[in-house]
Amino acid sequence: MKSLLLPILLLWLVAVLKAQEAPPDDLVDYSGIWYTKAMVHNGSLPRNKIPDRVFPVRITALEEGDLEATIIFWKKGHCLEFKFVMKKTEEPGKFTDSHDTKVIHIEKTSVDEHYIFYCKGRHNGTSIGMGKLMGRDPDENPKAMEEFKNFIKRMDLRLENMFVPEIRDECVDESD
Ligand SMILES: *[C@@H]1O[C@H](CO)[C@@H](O)[C@H](O)[C@H]1NC(C)=O
Ligand SMILES: *[C@@H]1O[C@H](CO)[C@@H](O)[C@H](O)[C@H]1NC(C)=O
Repeated sequence: MKSLLLPILLLWLVAVLKAQEAPPDDLVDYSGIWYTKAMVHNGSLPRNKIPDRVFPVRITALEEGDLEATIIFWKKGHCLEFKFVMKKTEEPGKFTDSHDTKVIHIEKTSVDEHYIFYCKGRHNGTSIGMGKLMGRDPDENPKAMEEFKNFIKRMDLRLENMFVPEIRDECVDESD
């Protein structure tokens, strides 16, 4: 009896520990403020469209796993706020916008609270692919950055299309 119980207990323990490791992607609570630590585009973004400064992104959880992202752009000395809904799909970590013109994949890195967002969509008539390394703090994180570079290689993107914009917060204060 004893000899049988021990392996079962061990199996159970392993299962419990595994379950605690990380929640499945569809249970991650993405709401809160996110900082863009690095970006990459797939070659289709004109040079003058590459932002040199970025602002924290606010994500709000809506019903049924949908998310609302509030993004701020800097344009001609003004903060432009832009909101869009990311609708949950059957696939964990995959979202679409309400017009089905954008597809967003979110994948986690091995660094706590650091995720890679990859968005495919149309912008002003051209299709672009854009990846972002996002974290819950604005600090540099070399390990997450290394994983972002690996992601870029894995996605057949080019490192020369990666850029690290300056994180600013003046717009956020204004809009609050
Ligand atoms: C949209 O695309 C057109 C044609 O490519 C260009 O002339 C225009 O400046 C673009 N507008 C924006 C806001 O990017
Ligand atoms: C960039 O990604 C978009 C969306 O997936 C795609 O339509 C476009 O062809 C890509 N451009 C390049 C240069 O790879």
